[in-house]
Amino acid sequence: MTHWILKVKLKLMPLLDVQHLSVSFVHNGQRKHVVQDLSFVLEPGETLGLVGESGSGKSVSCLALLGLLPQPPAKVEGGRAFFEGIDLLQVSEKRLGKIRGQSMGIVFQDPSSSLNPYLTIGSQLAEGLIAHTNMGRRAARLKCIEALEAVGIADAGVRLNEYPHVFSGGMRQRVMIAMALLLNPQLLIADEPTTALDVTVQAQILSLLKTRQAALGTAMILVTHDLGVAARMCDRLILLRQGKVEEAGTAEAIFYAPQSLYAKELLAAVPTLPAIV
Ligand SMILES: Nc1ncnc2c1ncn2[C@@H]1O[C@H](COP(=O)(O)OP(=O)(O)OP(=O)(O)O)[C@@H](O)[C@H]1O
Ligand SMILES: [Mg+2]
Repeated sequence: MTHWILKVKLKLMPLLDVQHLSVSFVHNGQRKHVVQDLSFVLEPGETLGLVGESGSGKSVSCLALLGLLPQPPAKVEGGRAFFEGIDLLQVSEKRLGKIRGQSMGIVFQDPSSSLNPYLTIGSQLAEGLIAHTNMGRRAARLKCIEALEAVGIADAGVRLNEYPHVFSGGMRQRVMIAMALLLNPQLLIADEPTTALDVTVQAQILSLLKTRQAALGTAMILVTHDLGVAARMCDRLILLRQGKVEEAGTAEAIFYAPQSLYAKELLAAVPTLPAIV
């Protein structure tokens, strides 16, 4: 296919097109279905919120798309997930690693397990930049300082030389967010990115994410159990319950005209209905 036909095709496709994703875990011969028939599309600049009770399959869905589930015990039972036309569920590990590194930013739910305790924050931040761009060490360092400052870490130039264990949980989470945004990814998958942060820092990070999205057209899958955050950030929501889609639609429709009893009950439990921005 010639280059321009490919370009036109890519423009017509959604950035991410997930079709009927199903995942199970097998333990002691018992199969447990934890994600069933999840489908959605995501366009550049859009934010999709994955919400739902603990254990409903939010993190597993994200990890499946990223090819980061431990298989076994996990098994992707079926489905397709086209990212710019490439099926993430079928592509080779090597190619997927490259796509993740270059086009996706990831903020894991547990930031402490995703930072290497033996490497300084600076070398972990710079690693991706140096590997995926032709940036030299000095330029990479400046970019990392900028990225840490953007997520509200003071004395970034000094803190770059420190190891993760001297950072607080909230600071490690901010480092992960800085790292995820460093390469200007097309897709950001953020699993409870601001849960460990106090409300002021949370507000600062959320507005940083919004600004970056507006400027760069980054698409985002945002996992959150905080309906206020979902209302503020998301264009569309998927409400998961026990691995199944309970309700899906625009944030506005779900907040103001929920259809399922579960969504109604969930919203009734929120003290005041969050304002949709
Ligand atoms: N390694 C694993 N082995 C077996 N079951 C697992 C494993 N990881 C997750 N699960 C199961 O998959 C289901 C979905 O888990 P998941 O982590 O996606 O929930 P979640 O919606 O992200 O919850 P939370 O809001 O608590 O983070 C749960 O029942 C969980 O017990
Ligand atoms: Mg989770």
